[in-house]
Amino acid sequence: LVLRIAQGKVIIPRFKQFSEKITNLYDEEKSNYSGTVADYIPQLAKYSPDFWGVAVTTIDGQRLNLGDTEVNFALQSSVKPFMYAVSITEESPQYVNKFLGTEPSGHDFNEILLDDENKPHNPMINAGAIVVASLIKPNLPLAERTIHMLDVMSKLTAGDKIAIDLPMFISERENADRNYAIAHYMNDHSCFPKGTNLREACDLYFQYCSIMMNTSQGSLLAASLANGGVCPLTGERVFADSAVRDALSIMHSCGMYNYSGTYAFEVGLPSKSGVSGVILTVIPNVMGICTWSPPLDMRINSVRGVEFHRKLVERFNFHNF
Ligand code: DON
Repeated sequence: LVLRIAQGKVIIPRFKQFSEKITNLYDEEKSNYSGTVADYIPQLAKYSPDFWGVAVTTIDGQRLNLGDTEVNFALQSSVKPFMYAVSITEESPQYVNKFLGTEPSGHDFNEILLDDENKPHNPMINAGAIVVASLIKPNLPLAERTIHMLDVMSKLTAGDKIAIDLPMFISERENADRNYAIAHYMNDHSCFPKGTNLREACDLYFQYCSIMMNTSQGSLLAASLANGGVCPLTGERVFADSAVRDALSIMHSCGMYNYSGTYAFEVGLPSKSGVSGVILTVIPNVMGICTWSPPLDMRINSVRGVEFHRKLVERFNFHNF
């Protein structure tokens, strides 16, 4: 990498200048104290509104970490594109997409609602993600299914040890009436493969939402998608091309809750947010970005994170169109 940087043969040759501009953006948002930290799950309410981290990893391994990039948080919904990509890589797009729609729902992420073909609207809302959870390694014992997903997340982060936060998982499960209701409603409409154990599918979904990462690792997750499913630091292929294409397409149209359409218009990048205040963003063939700041806006996206992205595409030509 050092040699390639010296020769200018990297995707961002003037990384220092780029980093300075990103640092300015980071600094500008630091004093933004709008928004409120999610509290519908008690473990989420514990995050300090001060936390603010931004990390970048390019597809050839240049990295930038600003602020609280070493503090762990739960991935929450930002795990959904990765669940979806695993399921497509291991089964097939034809099989997996048979169970899922590809339209924004136009409703809240936890709405008890199906599309007009009686499928979840897309894999980025809870209904879709619970179905995806049921499709990943369905024949393995429950604990092995957990281990499998953690292994995938570890490969995406160049071998880091990845874990689930037990109190977060318990907190999710104790406040899960809505998710259980979604699962039962979907079962009544034959949304799952035959023989699916609903409780296990929900448990896996809560576990995956409770996977812990820091902002620096988050940028590597996004960079693996930017790099076509290959971890930029190890060169290991984790996702099939088709899985990356499908995951990015759905992030682009459905990744930011009820702000997805406007975000696609204003920012024009595939991103996925989570209620912990994370936003993962993919600039295909260039870099992955992770921002983390717990206070959320009315549409439950991180206030600092959204502002950062809006300014990012003003200052760089990253908007896709
Ligand atoms: O209640 C839940 O299902 C959440 N833990 C979901 C996580 C999230 O970020 C919001 N989702 N789409």
